[in-house]
Amino acid sequence: MLKVNDLSFSYGRVPALKKVNIQTTPGQMVCITGRNGAGKTTLMQNIIGLAKHSTGTIELDGVDLTRSAPHERVRAGIGYVPQGRMIFPRLTVEENLRIGLAGRADKLRKIPDAIYEYFPGLFKKFQRMGGNLSGGEQQQLAIARALAVNPRLLILDEPTEGIQPNIIEQIGRVLTELMETDNLSVLVVEQYLDFIRRYGHRFYVMNKGEIVADGATEELSDEIVARYLSV
Ligand SMILES: Nc1ncnc2c1ncn2[C@@H]1O[C@H](COP(=O)(O)OP(=O)(O)OP(=O)(O)O)[C@@H](O)[C@H]1O
Ligand SMILES: [Mg+2]
Repeated sequence: MLKVNDLSFSYGRVPALKKVNIQTTPGQMVCITGRNGAGKTTLMQNIIGLAKHSTGTIELDGVDLTRSAPHERVRAGIGYVPQGRMIFPRLTVEENLRIGLAGRADKLRKIPDAIYEYFPGLFKKFQRMGGNLSGGEQQQLAIARALAVNPRLLILDEPTEGIQPNIIEQIGRVLTELMETDNLSVLVVEQYLDFIRRYGHRFYVMNKGEIVADGATEELSDEIVARYLSV
């Protein structure tokens, strides 16, 4: 699936990623965790193509995307839910979803029915402005928008940040269903350990731009937490 090989990146002269290697697996959730400023968002922005001048390679199903533009990576099958959700507050729910459709490789311009099933609450508010939704609803909208391109890999950057427990659980259920029924690969940046342990399959810990630990989520030990995650 996704293979990131020896990816390094700097903001000017300040290194933010140092020879990062990660992989995802179809039907599984891979979690990236680490303290604030560890480089997690920078890594996701590199994977989706929003960061320039990195070294190393990024491949999806054997296709080299290292030099592809963000829209080409979306067409290749990557859905992206950025940190802070970044929905369009002055557009309606429907318009936000239609913008997602524009990224599809096929010419389908109809919102797929499955999305209505995953987020029924959202569709009761179809004509509301995005900015008038609650934080949890905005997160659901950002996920629905990313799913509108029918991705093979879905990247979510801190989806539980500032969200109520019942919506977190609903998001977890939707992701689990997509992994089980569509064999979706999920790559999620997450600092909420309960979410990682409950829904994740594998984890990577980042510290100062490097991967410092990885394994199955059952192996995310108290020692790793104390060393790299506690503040
Ligand atoms: N646009 C930028 N210009 C310069 N430095 C940046 C920029 N964005 C991030 N950084 C720096 O790069 C490092 C990694 O930031 P990044 O946002 O990737 O961390 P993060 O792990 O996502 O943190 P958080 O958990 O707070 O979201 C930090 O030291 C940050 O200050
Ligand atoms: Mg971040």
